[in-house]
Amino acid sequence: MHSTDSVNDSGKIAFSSCHPDTGNDLPRRIKSYVRRQSRITGAQQRALAESWGRFGLETGCATFDPKQAFGRSAPLVLEIGFGDGESLAAMCAANPGIDFLGIEVHRPGIGHLLLRAVALGLTNLQVICSDAVEVVERYLPDGCLDRVQIFFPDPWPKMRHHKRRLIQPSFVALLVQKLKPAGQLHIATDCESYARSILDTLLAASELENTAAGNGFAQRPNYRPLTKFERRGNNLGHNVWEVLFKKRTHCPMIDHSPPSYAGEIAILL
Ligand SMILES: C[S@@+](CC[C@H](N)C(=O)[O-])C[C@H]1O[C@@H](n2cnc3c(N)ncnc32)[C@H](O)[C@@H]1O
Repeated sequence: MHSTDSVNDSGKIAFSSCHPDTGNDLPRRIKSYVRRQSRITGAQQRALAESWGRFGLETGCATFDPKQAFGRSAPLVLEIGFGDGESLAAMCAANPGIDFLGIEVHRPGIGHLLLRAVALGLTNLQVICSDAVEVVERYLPDGCLDRVQIFFPDPWPKMRHHKRRLIQPSFVALLVQKLKPAGQLHIATDCESYARSILDTLLAASELENTAAGNGFAQRPNYRPLTKFERRGNNLGHNVWEVLFKKRTHCPMIDHSPPSYAGEIAILL
């Protein structure tokens, strides 16, 4: 059986297990994170205990229903690995007409985001505390997302750790499945080797097309605030690479037009 983490009312990680482990789905084998032992502050702990009921989603056995989760139908953005959530909270506040679903495994970061969500009075945010690979694979219905954003995924710079990078063909294929037609996949990183590998991976995905001129890296869109990780990199003089693709509204490999028998008919005549 498979386990899915969540944060219960007391702020503790709880586990629910209901999904059979089929053993044949590659993406969830990516171990893209290590649980950091960083200290959780009293305020973050209290936010988890007091506000999880309002902003937290337990994945359980059901399939995610955006209308039920947010109480309305609106464009839906998924952010994976939001860290301390400052930039996600700012995006929620700046875009009240859009619903945001955040997935993170780092409890202090989730606590920090909940503090911001309460302070800003957000009503368009829901949070899941679990491995995003599992959540995307098992909990999200196909075609439900208008955008997936992953800002500064752990770079795992050593060659022997590249297999731990989140952005790999198997996970990208899964994300594409969850996007609506014309939905966007937006990734930013300050690690050049990862940036080039992300670009190559997305260029190889036939259901995606690059929104950037020249089929290269994109400009940073105005909607993306600086993140904590990015600020730290900026102070060290790091560059940032943005990759912004969208899902094609039709697959170029599959021709959906009706078959033409003109050639055969001409021969018969
Ligand atoms: C380098 S930090 C960047 C955080 C934030 N986006 C920023 O730019 O400040 C990467 C974050 O992704 C989270 N993460 C990595 N793999 C994850 C996964 N499979 N599911 C959920 N969160 C994940 C980590 O816990 C970490 O907080």
